[in-house]
Amino acid sequence: MRTIVAGNWKMHKDRAEALALIGVLKDVQVPTGVEVIIAPPFPFLAMAVEELKGTSIRVAGQNCHEKAQGAFTGEVSASMLASIGVTACIVGHSERRQYFGESDAIIGEKIQALLERGITPIFCCGERKEERMTGSHFDVVTEQMKGALRMFDNDALKKIVIAYEPVWAIGTGLTATAYQAQEMHGHIRALLHTHGASVAETVPILYGGSCKPDNAAELFANPDVNGGLIGGAALDAHQFSELIRIAGERERSAAIR
Ligand code: PGA
Repeated sequence: MRTIVAGNWKMHKDRAEALALIGVLKDVQVPTGVEVIIAPPFPFLAMAVEELKGTSIRVAGQNCHEKAQGAFTGEVSASMLASIGVTACIVGHSERRQYFGESDAIIGEKIQALLERGITPIFCCGERKEERMTGSHFDVVTEQMKGALRMFDNDALKKIVIAYEPVWAIGTGLTATAYQAQEMHGHIRALLHTHGASVAETVPILYGGSCKPDNAAELFANPDVNGGLIGGAALDAHQFSELIRIAGERERSAAIR
C-alpha cells in the first residue's frame, strides 16, 4: 500500500505565499511509492493544479458541499473541484465538525458527491480529549466510521482514504504516541476487515495531529499508519519536504521486509 503525505493548509497563506511554497514543492523528488497531496484554500486550487502539472503531486480541496449545485451561497461543489483538476478532497475534518456543525450523515453525503465526480475523499475521524480520557475513543471512531461510511459498497470504500486525527493532538503540539496511533489504526483496519480483506488491504489510514519531521519516522513505522495528514508542518516547505523524505524511508523499509 502506498504511503501518503497530505498537507492541509487550512485558512493560511495569500497568493504569493502559496505560489512560493508550491514553487519549492514542485522540485521535490517524490520517492517511489509515496503519494504527495496538498490542500490549499479554494482560491488557490486552480493555480496549484496549473503549477503542479507534470509533477506527481495531487491537489485537494479542504471541503466541498454535498449537493451538485444550487442556491448555497459561499459553497463549492465536488463537480466544480473536478472541473479544475482537483483529484482529492478532505471531508469531515474535526474543525468542520466543531465550527460548522458537520454530522456524520452530511459527511457521508459529501463523500458520495466526491466519489460521483471521481475525487478521492480523505475522510477524517478522531476523538476529543474528554472522550479519550473516559476511554470511549474506540467507540467514538467506530460510530464516526459507521455514520459516514455505512452507505458505501466495497468498490466505493476502496476509493476512500481515512485520516485518524485525535482532536486533542491537532495544532496542540501534543502527538499521539506511536503506540496510541497504531492501536487506533489497528482498530480502524479491523473495522475495514468487516467489509473483507480486499477493502482492509486497499484503504490507506493516515495519522494527523502535530505530525512533524521529528516524530514522523516513529509514527510512520507502524504497520497500519500509511502516512500523514499534516497541518502546521505543511505550511513550511522544508518541513513538508522532510516529511516526504521520511515517507520514502518507510516505503524503502517496507520493500526490504
Ligand atoms: P496539525 O493539523 O498537524 O497542525 O496538528 C493536522 C490537521 O488538522 O489536519
